[in-house]
Amino acid sequence: MANKANLAFIGAGKMVTAIVSSLLRTQSFQADQIICSSANDGTSEKLAETTKIKRAGSLDEVLDFNPDLLVLGCKPQQLSTFSTELGDRKFESLVLSIMAGIPLNRLSSTFPDASNIIRSMPNTPGQIGAGVTGYVFSNPPRPSDKLLISDVVSSLGHALELPSEGDIDRITAISGSGPAYLFEFTCALEEAAKEIGLSSDLAHQFALQTITGSAKLISESVLHPEELRNQVTSPNGTTQAALESFRSSALRKTVSNAVKAAYKRSIELSNA
Ligand SMILES: NC(=O)c1ccc[n+]([C@@H]2O[C@H](COP(=O)([O-])OP(=O)(O)OC[C@H]3O[C@@H](n4cnc5c(N)ncnc54)[C@H](OP(=O)(O)O)[C@@H]3O)[C@@H](O)[C@H]2O)c1
Repeated sequence: MANKANLAFIGAGKMVTAIVSSLLRTQSFQADQIICSSANDGTSEKLAETTKIKRAGSLDEVLDFNPDLLVLGCKPQQLSTFSTELGDRKFESLVLSIMAGIPLNRLSSTFPDASNIIRSMPNTPGQIGAGVTGYVFSNPPRPSDKLLISDVVSSLGHALELPSEGDIDRITAISGSGPAYLFEFTCALEEAAKEIGLSSDLAHQFALQTITGSAKLISESVLHPEELRNQVTSPNGTTQAALESFRSSALRKTVSNAVKAAYKRSIELSNA
């Protein structure tokens, strides 16, 4: 069902474009309910032109639109300029941040009059609607606010409300950085394919299709990945030889160390 709220987006880059396009495609919102602004007019002009949403040249103009929800989809470095841009103006509706590494307390001090503030952590597959986003409310939400936020963040794919802000740092190390882990593994597979004699082109295609096909199988199968793994591992076969090599080089420990390093860094950045 179409939502009646007005939405404003600060930033008109990849993530905002993905959210806006999806909201319009699913007809959850109409173009005249949405406004955007960006640092350089060109970016928001392009988004407004392709989607027919409204465009603002400043934060003042954005606020004149009376949005029920202000989505901060710009770069994290941008946050410090909002207080100056706001001046004496009060923003008393909802604020949703998709910016990485900006904690709720910093968002609250920038928008002290907001009715509620939501911090979310999307990931890159969100750009094609295949993301997973975790989000947390600063204060207990009203049912209508819960619905609005769920509508907006679900446009990037799966969306899950988290019990505490600490979980944002945890999911940053899993879903936020996770796509890069998979991309790195794909590169390693491609490199190994060349080392054993496949041409560059074949190495690239076979590595890529293996990763994308396996991800699709995981998502469509009712089986746990461990069972899917067992299904392709016959005793004394090729897969078993490879998995034993993984075990002896402690792949799981390597992954665990990587996730813990990302988690630690996420906490450091949030506290910076
Ligand atoms: N990409 C992801 O998968 C991902 C995942 C998790 C979190 N995020 C977060 O999402 C946010 C956007 O990421 P993105 O990938 O969409 O970045 P992007 O494509 O580089 O877009 C950033 C947008 O912010 C705008 N911006 C910068 N300074 C601004 C200002 N002073 N006023 C208004 N707009 C301003 C830029 O405007 P111009 O184009 O005019 O310079 C641009 O439209 C970031 O905070 C990032 O941390 C992204």
